[in-house]
Amino acid sequence: MTTYVLRSASPAKTRAEAVVVGVLADGSLAPGGEAVAEAYGRKLPGLLSSVGISGKPGEVAKVPTGGAIASPLLVLVGLGAEATPDAVRRAAGNVARAVTNAASVALALPADSPELVRAVLEGYRLGGYAFTRYKSAPPTPTAPADVVVLTPAARRAEVAAVLEPAQVLTDAVLAARDWVNTPPADLTPPAFADEIVAAAEATNKLLPRAHGRSAAKVEVEVLDETRLAELGCGGLLGVGAGSAAPPRLVELTYAPKDAVAHVALVGKGITFDSGGLWIKPAGSMATMKEDMAGAAAVVQATLAAARLGLPVRISTFAALAENMVGEASMRPGDVQTMYDGTTVEIGNTDAEGRLVLADALGRAVERGPDMIVDVATLTGHMVMALGEKMAGVLGTDEVVAQVLAAGAGAGEDAWPMPLPEFVVERVRSSKVADLAQYDGIRWGGGLFAAAFLREFTGGLPWAHVDVAGPTFLKGGPSGHWTAGATGYGVATLVELLRNAAAPVTDPADAAASAAS
Ligand code: BES
Ligand code: MN
Ligand code: ZN
Repeated sequence: MTTYVLRSASPAKTRAEAVVVGVLADGSLAPGGEAVAEAYGRKLPGLLSSVGISGKPGEVAKVPTGGAIASPLLVLVGLGAEATPDAVRRAAGNVARAVTNAASVALALPADSPELVRAVLEGYRLGGYAFTRYKSAPPTPTAPADVVVLTPAARRAEVAAVLEPAQVLTDAVLAARDWVNTPPADLTPPAFADEIVAAAEATNKLLPRAHGRSAAKVEVEVLDETRLAELGCGGLLGVGAGSAAPPRLVELTYAPKDAVAHVALVGKGITFDSGGLWIKPAGSMATMKEDMAGAAAVVQATLAAARLGLPVRISTFAALAENMVGEASMRPGDVQTMYDGTTVEIGNTDAEGRLVLADALGRAVERGPDMIVDVATLTGHMVMALGEKMAGVLGTDEVVAQVLAAGAGAGEDAWPMPLPEFVVERVRSSKVADLAQYDGIRWGGGLFAAAFLREFTGGLPWAHVDVAGPTFLKGGPSGHWTAGATGYGVATLVELLRNAAAPVTDPADAAASAAS
């Protein structure tokens, strides 16, 4: 266990085993490192060039100080041109993996605002993550016991106030990563449902100690295959039909008395996506344990919101199924009836996400939320369009804008995509059923999927977040993202819920309430 504290002290006089400072692209030490720059004086440029640090993001070097400053080890980390919260979050992540086996670390990165302190804390904790549950030997090297974030503003209330939320948020992101990284044979829909119940119970135990404010509990209900059949959830049942492990719909409710808004969250939870009878090429299947990341994100965001005591009612739906090949598998040409009664002609068993989401959206609409946000590793098309580091967001303009703003505040990149009328027509083009699940046309497949989902949103304000790109890092670690699951989406959702809890109408009002 690592403990984090904020302190306002000079990095040159701090006696941690390692002191970390940032280097900007112009070769100067970033804010926070002034005292270290002063201690090295004119020797600094030569030192930086001899250890190969020019200030580019991703660079890290460790330098024995030989008494130049109080700490025996100086860690230099590249920040790039500007010390933005995003740059600082990534740099802190790179540092977490570079500084190993130090009992104490002092981070003297740019941290003179709440946003920057938050970025340092989050980046460091997220970047230091490793999935070790399946390693026989205990993980080495170990994380430091003490991390001190040096900030000139340590005593400012709004800066001290970021420590606890950063801990809650990173707990949630790391828990989502653990779920996504878990081998799919060990996280079948019933097993995942059990995990969600256990996580909610664990969260509820933490609540009385967290603030006491609106400590409402998170209620969980698991709908099994019998119940799903009674309810007519043909999407979940159709997709799950080929698997030995039956589907589940997990519904969470967080209803604080002082709620000022009601948000419904819906997550795609395909615990493994083989493609079904429309089987995927082996290479595309390799990382398909990631296909439940949307469900992991909405559940963890809900639990984080409860721990933070946010005054927002949250209705969360995790649609869990395994898309496999079996004698009972759903076939192309089948027609399935979704929860809301809409009939859907199946064109491609590998377009399974939209089917399980259709049932879950139908359930969400019944709760009458102010807005619905769904998170799903839905299409390879979105990865083709936007690459592997950002999500695509589609839906009602205002909700899309809120998701994009939340992503920007949380350090997760996202980009808006359109829902043109000609794609809506394609969704309504089935000759057999109400809707076509797939029309054989590859082009615009990410938009088609979203247009299909919109049919199940009951006209409510809604945004769909396609996270197929940023959910799983295939290469090595980068910044606060470690290899494998990234936990993408949790931070954006928590930010969205925070914003919903404290709607900022006028900057002057916001300034007044911050000052009070
Ligand atoms: N789970 C996949 C989408 C995906 C692709 C997630 C890459 C993560 C990384 C989804 O179920 C799928 O197979 N989508 C198809 C849809 C198509 C058949 C319309 C796709 O993208 O090819
Ligand atoms: Mn698929
Ligand atoms: Zn899928």
